Amino acid sequence: MGSHTRRSPHGQTKWWIWRAGVFLAALAPLLYWSWMVANNAAGPEPGRYLLLNIGIGGLWMLLLTLCLTPLTKLTRWKGFALIRRQLGLWALTYATLHLLSYALFILGLDWSRLGSEIIKRPYIIVGMIALIGLAMLGATSNRWAMKRLGKRWKPLHKCSYAILGLVLLHFFWVVRADMQEWAMYAALAALIMATRLPPVARTLPKLRTR
Ligand code: HEM
Repeated sequence: MGSHTRRSPHGQTKWWIWRAGVFLAALAPLLYWSWMVANNAAGPEPGRYLLLNIGIGGLWMLLLTLCLTPLTKLTRWKGFALIRRQLGLWALTYATLHLLSYALFILGLDWSRLGSEIIKRPYIIVGMIALIGLAMLGATSNRWAMKRLGKRWKPLHKCSYAILGLVLLHFFWVVRADMQEWAMYAALAALIMATRLPPVARTLPKLRTR
């Protein structure tokens, strides 16, 4: 593949379709939840429905983004690397929409309530730190910032591991009764993080089938 695909117009079209497909797939859940709310099919608390679903969606985007590097190592397929930035930005978009639904449906845009809310639900601070982290990564994921940061880009973007930890902590704090769903996400996160352990990271390219 490599340079041939990069130059040929056919290859370009193929990657354009792949990226556009990923874009539509990432957009689809948001459209689906909006459609459910618009059709009164989102239960008695549509605001909370949006808040919770978008929160889980953001976690999914983060997990998927962090799958892409190990998948690239395992398969050498260029397509995974090509959507890494897009999915990372989707994680930021979902997290921002999650905050917006919180501000709109829980706070009713009454920011004076934020102080007492934070005391009552300290997990909000954890979520905010995670969102600020995602925003920082989003802001430094363009070519210009990558060039300027040079060697520092990679260690900086390893903050995504800490952000994943913060999001899981935020989620853990929210869950009171049923821990099963949380445990499923924590196990997935642990698996994805295990691929970063040096012996595992070294083994992945050797498992390549082609
Ligand atoms: C600005 C920062 C944030 C605020 C104010 C915030 C607020 C909230 C609130 C109020 C809840 C619902 C608690 C309840 O059930 O009563 C929640 C749940 C959740 N949030 Fe956040 N959050 C923030 C950031 C994030 C980020 C960055 C992510 C992930 C990318 C995230 C993922 C989640 C998840 C997965 C849940 C649990 C959903 C569920 O129980 O089904 N949050 N958040």
